[in-house]
Amino acid sequence: MAINSPKGIWWNEPLSKAEVVWIAIAFLWGLVMFFTMIYWHFGGQQNLSNEAYKIRPELFSERTEAMVEKYTVREENGIPVVHPPAGSEVYLIARQFEWWPILELENGKQYRFHIGSTDVQHGFSLQPVNINLQIHPGYEMVLTAEPNKTGEFPIICNEYCGLGHHLMVGRVNVVEPQ
Ligand code: CUA
Repeated sequence: MAINSPKGIWWNEPLSKAEVVWIAIAFLWGLVMFFTMIYWHFGGQQNLSNEAYKIRPELFSERTEAMVEKYTVREENGIPVVHPPAGSEVYLIARQFEWWPILELENGKQYRFHIGSTDVQHGFSLQPVNINLQIHPGYEMVLTAEPNKTGEFPIICNEYCGLGHHLMVGRVNVVEPQ
C-alpha cells in the first residue's frame, strides 16, 4: 500500500453541496454546447449544405470529360479552362495530383457543383474563403452555390494523398457575365 493512501471507505462519503452545484453547472453547460452545435449549423452560415451520392469513378470521369469537351475556351499549362453556361451542372475531378479542369464561372450566377475523386481521398479547400469538403472516391459531393466575387480562387488539397500532395493546387476563375 502506498504511504499516502487515504484511510477507510473514503469514496463512499455523501456528496458535498459544492460538488452537486459543480456537477449541475457542468451538465447544464454541456447541454448549452450541444444545442449551440446544432443551432450553429444553421445560424453560423459556415457549414455547407452539400449532398453526397454514390457514383462509379469512371462515370464521374466521363461526365467531367463531356463537360470539358463541350465548353473548353483555352488551355493553361496543359489544363483546360472551361466556361460552362450559367446555371449548369459543373464537374471537378480531384486526382493525384491535380484539380481538373480549371473552372471559369460567371459572377452572380448559380451553378450546381459536382466534385469527385477518381483515385484516393482528397480534401477540397477553396481559398481564401475557406470552403472545405472531404472528397472520397466512389462518391460525388454536390452543392448549389453562386459566386459573389470576381477573381482567381486557388483550390488546395488539405488531405494527404501521396507524394505530390503539396503540388495539388487548382483554380476557379470568377468573371463578370459575358
Ligand atoms: Cu490531394 Cu492531397
